[in-house]
Amino acid sequence: MITATTSLAPSLVRQIIAAAVAAPSVHNTQPWLFRIVNDEIHLLADTSRQLEAQDPDGRALLMSCGAALLNLRLAAEHFGRTSDVVVFPSEDHDHLATVNVHGAATATGMVDELFAAIPHRHTNRLPYEDRPVPPAVLEALSEAASQEGAVFYPVTEPGERRRLVDLIHDADATTNPKVMAEAKRWTGVEPSRPDGVPTESLGPIPQSPSTPHRDLTPGRVISGRGFAVFENDPTLAVLTTSRDDRAAWLAGGQALQRVLLVATVEGLVATYANQPLEAPGLRWLVRDPDQPIGFPQMLFRIGYAPAAPATPRRPVEDVIVEP
Ligand SMILES: Cc1cc2nc3c(=O)[nH]c(=O)nc-3n(C[C@H](O)[C@H](O)[C@H](O)COP(=O)(O)O)c2cc1C
Repeated sequence: MITATTSLAPSLVRQIIAAAVAAPSVHNTQPWLFRIVNDEIHLLADTSRQLEAQDPDGRALLMSCGAALLNLRLAAEHFGRTSDVVVFPSEDHDHLATVNVHGAATATGMVDELFAAIPHRHTNRLPYEDRPVPPAVLEALSEAASQEGAVFYPVTEPGERRRLVDLIHDADATTNPKVMAEAKRWTGVEPSRPDGVPTESLGPIPQSPSTPHRDLTPGRVISGRGFAVFENDPTLAVLTTSRDDRAAWLAGGQALQRVLLVATVEGLVATYANQPLEAPGLRWLVRDPDQPIGFPQMLFRIGYAPAAPATPRRPVEDVIVEP
């Protein structure tokens, strides 16, 4: 419910929060809540939606909330508001950011373009075309990450790519039963659910074991899900941050979402094979030793493909809490 403690028009609040919740989130857990106080929109972590087994530190939860925060900032600016952000503004551990959407501002063309891309960005687990991503486009993705204080680098060297694919497979082999049980609750879910990853978004299983891929339903047979030939030469990329704490994860999520929206504008799609980042002992091996020192936060597969289906979201009313 949007209450009377705000001077912001309810329709404006609704549109800004609808944009925020369109963000990607780990297993589509949507681990966020919003509180409206005067001209401020507070972003809160909903830790009841944390993946306790897969994400015990809450890194993926914070990255998901960071992605929502980037959308929130873009939406505020798109609707002609300033969007001053203070991160971790109070003693409340779950209060991640306050966005003050008070004054009038003129949105730049870039803001409008990225805002328009929000509903078109979907995680795409289909096979991609055998078409390289041009270096200038990869450069634009790196620039997007650096605007949010992170580093994005494509993995172009064949030996380095093979090393990453091996790490992905090693991580698959170490998947623990608690993570599998948790994945079962959140992935391959009925389309009527407002959260979780629906079966139709899982994509096919690659025929070749050398495809870098994450099966979100490990060990389960999903009726109607087939095999497919994936691209020969996938474009992989890594997102890193210079620190590895809650602030870095929140910033990393904003960088992730800016990268994804620029990718969407460029006609690209993306998915992730993050399992080595979640396996103690493997995460640090993801970093290319030839790259600047940084903490890996995301491992992408990027390319060109037909559109993937949208995943559901909880209604805006359900993610707004009383002040
Ligand atoms: C922090 C984070 C980690 C994710 N990890 C993976 C992953 O390893 N594999 C994958 O296929 N999708 C991954 N996803 C994508 C989510 O499953 C996806 O965002 C969610 O299902 C919502 O769908 P959408 O992105 O199409 O809106 C991740 C998303 C986030 C934000």
